[in-house]
Amino acid sequence: MLTLTVKTQSHEETRRVAETLGRAMRGGEVLALCGDLGAGKTTFVQGLAAGMGVRSRVTSPTFILINEYCAENGLRLVHVDAYRLAEQATLADAVTFGLTDLLAGVDGDERTVLAIEWADRIASLLPDDLLHIELRIDPEEPDARTIHLAATGGQSAEALHRLSVA
Ligand SMILES: Nc1ncnc2c1ncn2[C@@H]1O[C@H](COP(=O)(O)OP(=O)(O)OP(=O)(O)O)[C@@H](O)[C@H]1O
Ligand SMILES: [Mg+2]
Repeated sequence: MLTLTVKTQSHEETRRVAETLGRAMRGGEVLALCGDLGAGKTTFVQGLAAGMGVRSRVTSPTFILINEYCAENGLRLVHVDAYRLAEQATLADAVTFGLTDLLAGVDGDERTVLAIEWADRIASLLPDDLLHIELRIDPEEPDARTIHLAATGGQSAEALHRLSVA
């Protein structure tokens, strides 16, 4: 499995790493973001969006669950936040929130990049090929984050490779 670990020292640095990944997106990628409250998942998606050429402001979709943005080159960013789902969300919960339809529609859609916060809550619904992104806070260094990226298939590995050589 292709993995990459980056340590950032500030909010801006996390944004910059994500922005570089945003420029490596080609469409069809699924990004599963995990990490505690305030770990930097939304910050990461904001940087990702900037790198994809999204012009509008990216906000946290915690209360509305799903936001969609137009990016450059005909790409579309779909930003999901599964926080409001139960710890171990059931298929019925996901159906209620329209997530199953969304995931089915996005699967294989070359124009869409899907970024999911609290992806561990809907792990069983996600495709096999995804870029797992875990953000970890070190209690001793409040402004540092360890970002661990792992690709679980060919498409996500290509994206991660483009990030690692950028
Ligand atoms: N190195 C860093 N990288 C990212 N964010 C950082 C860093 N250091 C400090 N921060 C701060 O941590 C917070 C991260 O907030 P953010 O909303 O991105 O987290 P989140 O993981 O989306 O939280 P939630 O679980 O509530 O959705 C921001 O206030 C940001 O300024
Ligand atoms: Mg968030």
